[in-house]
Amino acid sequence: MKILILLWVLHLIFSFFTSSDTNPTSETYTLINATNLAKPGCLSRCGELIVPYPFGIGINSNCSIGPGFDVYCNNSIHPPKASFTKTDLTSIKLISDSTLRTTNNVAFKCYFPNGTTSRGFRIWANFMDGPYTFSEVNKFTVIGCDDYSWLTSETKSRDVSTGCATRCSTPKDVIGDQCSGNGCCQSSMPKDINYYRVRVFSMDDSENMSYTRSFNPCTYAFVGEENTFKFHGTTDLSDTFLKEKIEANVPIVYEWAIGNLNCTQAQATDGFACQYSNSSCVNSLRGSGGYRCICNEGYEGNPYLSPGCQDIDECKDPEKFPCYGTCFNTAGNYTCKCKRGHYGDAKFLDGCRRNPFHPLVLYIGVGSGLLAVLTVLSLSYFTAKKKKLVKLRKKCFEKNGGVLLEEKLKTTGGIGVGSMKIFHAGELEEATEKYAEDKILGRGGNGIVYKGNLPYNRVVAIKKSQRLDKGQREQFINEMVILTQINHQNVVQLLGCCLETDVPLLVYEFVSNGTLHRHIHNRKSGVGRLSWDSRLRIAHESAGALAYLHSDARMSIIHRDVKSTNILLDESYTAKIADFGASRVVLLGDHDQVTTLVQGTLGYLDPEYLRTGQLTDKSDVYSFGVVLAELLTGKKPIAMERCLAEQTLATYFEKAMMENRVLEILEVEVVKEATNEQLKATCELVCRCLNQVGRNRPSMKEVTMELETLRKFGRHPLFSQDSYNEMSSLMIETKPKDIYDVPLISNSDAFGEYSSSTTQIEDMMSEIHCPR
Ligand SMILES: *[C@@H]1O[C@H](CO)[C@@H](O)[C@H](O)[C@H]1NC(C)=O
Ligand SMILES: *[C@@H]1O[C@H](CO)[C@@H](O)[C@H](O)[C@H]1NC(C)=O
Ligand SMILES: *[C@@H]1O[C@H](CO)[C@@H](O)[C@H](O)[C@H]1NC(C)=O
Ligand SMILES: *[C@@H]1O[C@H](CO)[C@@H](O)[C@H](O)[C@H]1NC(C)=O
Ligand SMILES: *[C@@H]1O[C@H](CO)[C@@H](O)[C@H](O)[C@H]1NC(C)=O
Ligand SMILES: *[C@@H]1O[C@H](CO)[C@@H](O)[C@H](O)[C@H]1NC(C)=O
Ligand SMILES: *[C@@H]1O[C@H](CO)[C@@H](O)[C@H](O)[C@H]1NC(C)=O
Ligand SMILES: *[C@@H]1O[C@H](CO)[C@@H](O)[C@H](O)[C@H]1NC(C)=O
Repeated sequence: MKILILLWVLHLIFSFFTSSDTNPTSETYTLINATNLAKPGCLSRCGELIVPYPFGIGINSNCSIGPGFDVYCNNSIHPPKASFTKTDLTSIKLISDSTLRTTNNVAFKCYFPNGTTSRGFRIWANFMDGPYTFSEVNKFTVIGCDDYSWLTSETKSRDVSTGCATRCSTPKDVIGDQCSGNGCCQSSMPKDINYYRVRVFSMDDSENMSYTRSFNPCTYAFVGEENTFKFHGTTDLSDTFLKEKIEANVPIVYEWAIGNLNCTQAQATDGFACQYSNSSCVNSLRGSGGYRCICNEGYEGNPYLSPGCQDIDECKDPEKFPCYGTCFNTAGNYTCKCKRGHYGDAKFLDGCRRNPFHPLVLYIGVGSGLLAVLTVLSLSYFTAKKKKLVKLRKKCFEKNGGVLLEEKLKTTGGIGVGSMKIFHAGELEEATEKYAEDKILGRGGNGIVYKGNLPYNRVVAIKKSQRLDKGQREQFINEMVILTQINHQNVVQLLGCCLETDVPLLVYEFVSNGTLHRHIHNRKSGVGRLSWDSRLRIAHESAGALAYLHSDARMSIIHRDVKSTNILLDESYTAKIADFGASRVVLLGDHDQVTTLVQGTLGYLDPEYLRTGQLTDKSDVYSFGVVLAELLTGKKPIAMERCLAEQTLATYFEKAMMENRVLEILEVEVVKEATNEQLKATCELVCRCLNQVGRNRPSMKEVTMELETLRKFGRHPLFSQDSYNEMSSLMIETKPKDIYDVPLISNSDAFGEYSSSTTQIEDMMSEIHCPR
C-alpha cells in the first residue's frame, strides 16, 4: 500500500514537470460561418452540428479531406447523432477552426448499500490514427472520497501520466465548492497525447469505503473542458446521476490539424490543402505537427474550398466594426472617415471634432485666389507638355508600324482582331508601375518581360522588345497579326500590343507556374518533381501546339526557338508554348524552305539548318527532340563537364543509344515510373527527332500522335505483364493522378525565366570548347 502511494507521489512530481502552462489557441468560427461550408454534393449538417470541410459527413464518402476527418451521422435517431465511427458512444458537438468537442465518457466506481459494486473504471479514448490530440484546455478531474486516479498515455518520445488524490472522511471535510483535494481534485492534461487510459482506485479497498459510502456512493474520473465543469461540494458527492450530467454537459476538447508536416514541408507535397486566395497556412502548435489553413485578416470563408476566403464587408457589421462617420469597405479592411467639416478618428464614438473656424479666413481667401492663378498657369504648361508627349507617341506609333498594323487589321476583316487590343502607353505604364524593377519576370535576348496588373484584376505579361530596324518592323507587324489569330490552348496567347513607345510592347496572357526548364533543372526553388505522367502530358501538349503551328491551312509558322525555357506551365501545369520573337512564317506552296540568318539557342539548334541556313519545320522537330531528351534524362542541353563529343545532350543521348546504355543516363525516377514500352518508344522517338537529315525526322504531327499513343500505353497496360503489375499498384491510390502529381504552389515570381536568349552563331562557335 505504502509503495503504491509512493509511486503515485512520484507520478505527480513527474507530471508536474512534464505539463506546461501554454495558452490554448484562441478559437475562431470562420469555418462554421462560411458560405462554402461543405464540398459540393456533400451534406454540411448532422442535426445541429455543422460539419465544415475539411471534415465531411459519411465514412469513406469522399466528402472530407481524408479518413480521419469523416463524420458518421446516424439520422435514424432524433436528434441525429454525429460521431467518429458507427459504434462510437460519444457524439461530436462542435467543430471550429482548430478544435472539436465531443460528449464525455466518465470512469466510475460505485458501492451500493446492498453490498454490490459497479464500475466502469478503465475507460480509454483512442485517436491514435486520427488528426486529433487532446487539448490542454481539458483538465483531468476526480470526484469522490478516499480515492485516487490516474491517466496514462504515451507520446512518440515518452510515457506520460497525470493524476490526483482526493480525501474526506466526513462531509465536513469538503470545503465549499473548491476542487482542491477534498472531495474533488484536478490536474492538468499532458501535452500532445492522442489517446489515454483512466483508472480509478480506492485508497483502502479492504475497508470497502464503508465509512464514506453514506454520503459518497460513487467515485468519478474524467477528462473535460476546464471551465464547463463546476464542483458543487457535497451535493455532487451524493448525486447518483452525476455521471450522466457530466457526460451531457462537460465536453472533451480536441485540437485538430492536417497531417503531421509543417507548412513548409506540406507545401512541397501532393494535395497541399491551403491553395485558395486570401488565405494562409499556419503550423499547428501541437508537438505532433500538422498545419491548418486560415483566412487572412479582413477575409472570411472556408479557406479549404473554392473560392477560398472572401472580403468581409465591414461596413455591413457596425457592431463588430464600429464607424461613426462614412464607412468605405476596402479589400481586407475598411476606412472610416469623419463627416465633411470634421476631423479625427471616426472609428470611436465622439472621435470626430468640428474643424475650428479661424479668423484668418480672409487671408486664406486671398491666398487661394493666388493659388488659383498659379494653378491655371501650371496647368497650361502641363497641357503643352502633354500635347508634346501625345505627338511623340504618335510619331513612335507610326515608326513602329502602327499604321501598317491598323490597315492589316482592317483588311483581315476583323478575324482575330476582336481578341487583339492596341494598348495605350499610359495604360501599360500604370500596369507595370512605370516598369518597376520588381515587376521584371525575366530578361532575354529579345527583350525584357514585365508582370502587369490591368484593371479588373487582369494579370498579363508585357514584353518590351528590342529595338527594330525598318526591315524587321514589317516582319514584326506581320507576325503579330498572325499570332493574334492563333488560339490554341497550348500556345501563350498574345492579347495585344502597344506601338506608342520607342520600342514596341507586346502584351501576353500571364502564365503563373514558370518555365518547364525550371521544373526540370532548377528544383531548388521549392518546385516539386514532375512525374513521368506529367512529363509525357507536357510533351504531348507542346508537340500538339507545334504541330498546329506547322500545319495551319494557310501558312506554316516555324517557331525556331523551341526549348524548355520557352515552354511555360500554367497553374494546372498545362504546357504553353511561348516566345515567338524568332518565329518565321512560311507560306505553303510558295516555298518549302526559306533562307534566314541562323538563329536559335545553343544545344537545341538543328545541325542541318546550321550548315545550310535552310529553315524548315523539321528544325523545330530537332529542337523538340532535345526537349524530350531533357524530360527523359533530367539533364541540361549543354553540359561543359561532359567531354567534347558529348557536350550537347543530343550527341550524348545518341551516343548512349548507340552503345546500348541509354538506361544509365535516364533519370532514375523516370525509369521507375514509366513502363518499359514508354521508355523504349520515347527514346526511339528522340533518336528519330535528332536525325542529322531533316527529311528523315518525323513531322510534329507524327510526334504528337506517337506521344498520344504512349500516354495511352500507361493507361491501358495490355502490353506486358510488367507494366500491368505496375499499373495495378498505381490503381490502389485513390487520389487523382494527373493534376495533383506536382505540388500546387502559387508562386508569384514563378515567371523568372521567361527568357528568349537566342544565341547567334558566332557566340555559339566561341562557346564550344572543353575547359581543360
Ligand atoms: C460565427 O459563428 C459563431 C459561432 O456560431 C458566432 O458566435 C459568431 O457570431 C459568428 N460570427 C459571424 C461574423 O457571423
Ligand atoms: C471516392 O473516390 C474514389 C476515387 O476517386 C472512388 O473510387 C470512390 O467510388 C468514391 N466513393 C464514393 C462513395 O463516392
Ligand atoms: C443509430 O443509433 C441507434 C441508437 O443508438 C442504433 O440503434 C442504430 O443502429 C443506429 N443506426 C445506424 C444506421 O447506425
Ligand atoms: C444493488 O443495488 C443496485 C442499485 O440500487 C442495483 O442496481 C443492484 O441490482 C442491486 N444488487 C443486488 C444483488 O440486489
Ligand atoms: C464490502 O462490503 C460488503 C458488505 O458490507 C461485503 O459483503 C464485501 O465482502 C466487502 N468487500 C470487500 C472487498 O471487503
Ligand atoms: C518545418 O520542418 C522542417 C523539418 O523538420 C524544419 O527544418 C523547418 O524549420 C520547419 N519549419 C517551420 C516553419 O517550423
Ligand atoms: C483577395 O480577394 C479579393 C476579392 O475579395 C481578390 O480581388 C484578390 O485578388 C484576392 N487576393 C489575392 C492575393 O488573391
Ligand atoms: C486596417 O487599417 C488600419 C488603419 O488603416 C490598420 O491599423 C490595420 O492594421 C488594417 N488591418 C488590416 C487587416 O490590414
